[in-house]
Amino acid sequence: MTSSELIAQSKTRVIAIANQKGGVGKTTTTVNLGAALAELGQRVLLIDLDPQANASTGLGINPRAIEKNMYDVLLGDTPLEDTLEPVADVEGLFVAPSSLDLAGAEIELVPGFNRERRLIDALAPIVGDYDYVFIDCPPSLGLLTINALVAATEVLVPIQCEYYALEGVGQLVRNVELVRKSLNQSLEISTIVLVMYDARTKLAGQVVDEVRNHFGEKVCKIVIPRVVRLSEAPSYGQPITVFDPENRGAQAYRDLANEVLGNELNLDDDNVPSSGGVEIVPAPDDPAPDDPAPDDPAPDDPAPPQPQLGLDEPTAAPIKRPSGLGATMILGGSPEVMPEADSETLEENE
Ligand SMILES: Nc1ncnc2c1ncn2[C@@H]1O[C@H](COP(=O)(O)OP(=O)(O)OP(=O)(O)O)[C@@H](O)[C@H]1O
Ligand SMILES: [Mg+2]
Repeated sequence: MTSSELIAQSKTRVIAIANQKGGVGKTTTTVNLGAALAELGQRVLLIDLDPQANASTGLGINPRAIEKNMYDVLLGDTPLEDTLEPVADVEGLFVAPSSLDLAGAEIELVPGFNRERRLIDALAPIVGDYDYVFIDCPPSLGLLTINALVAATEVLVPIQCEYYALEGVGQLVRNVELVRKSLNQSLEISTIVLVMYDARTKLAGQVVDEVRNHFGEKVCKIVIPRVVRLSEAPSYGQPITVFDPENRGAQAYRDLANEVLGNELNLDDDNVPSSGGVEIVPAPDDPAPDDPAPDDPAPDDPAPPQPQLGLDEPTAAPIKRPSGLGATMILGGSPEVMPEADSETLEENE
């Protein structure tokens, strides 16, 4: 059986967490969704394919102190299982760590035989030991990400609820399509997760609506809020579920884990941002340090003159800017300026 057949036929979900835009929450989602799934009894392997090694260090692993890492797997003969490190305090969660050397791998792999299939061939022998394999990709569409897309059966794309949120997503969609056609027929973008949601900005709600309009059912109901503790946890080498188990960031990733598992979600309307009403209210005791005081103008005001979310596929649903800003955000096609009356109505309704 080929590696592709082994992976396609296994019950394991192999999910590449990809978005070539930097700093959008790939690693935070890999680490915390992985930990939340392990907490729910799943066996989870996190493959750190980013030379920055944030997933490794964020789970308390010092890449300098370990013997074998993903570089040795992709460019040497090291079996993947020889790199695995169990994560402290999270039963069932394992990491295949990265190292800075991996930065050179993009170049060193270029002339190599089977260069797009190094990861899938390494993963295939052990894939059946896990329920979930997450591959944390670097912020690029280079050979490391291609290796992840070839090994995976699904792609999860985290999207930040901010300006230019969809910048580059069109290119990612096309690349996934290319890989599907030529290298991995089982690949699909299965999951979009909206992250760093701040209920106080109108823009966040607009991005949520726009992404839902565009990607429909693929977008998870659970939206991850912007929570300071989520950004603090990595420096303690712990997932949020261990670092601050009661924090709403931990709860959000637990809810997301249940959604990913296909479990019934126990939500009240406040937890499900939907078209027209976005109601995730930040807990008063958990203000983000960089958050403005409630009276301050929202961080997205004023807007640049012609903001675009950046996905270049056309869509019929441009999203509205608040009145007076004179601009709309669009996913693609030609910009449309909404009638002023409509914008005012929108604002009054909020
Ligand atoms: N929901 C959140 N609330 C607050 N901070 C967050 C949240 N998600 C991510 N962050 C912070 O945002 C920054 C970028 O997140 P992260 O490292 O997960 O992105 P990334 O896409 O993996 O970045 P890169 O492209 O560099 O690999 C980090 O400092 C992280 O702690
Ligand atoms: Mg990262």
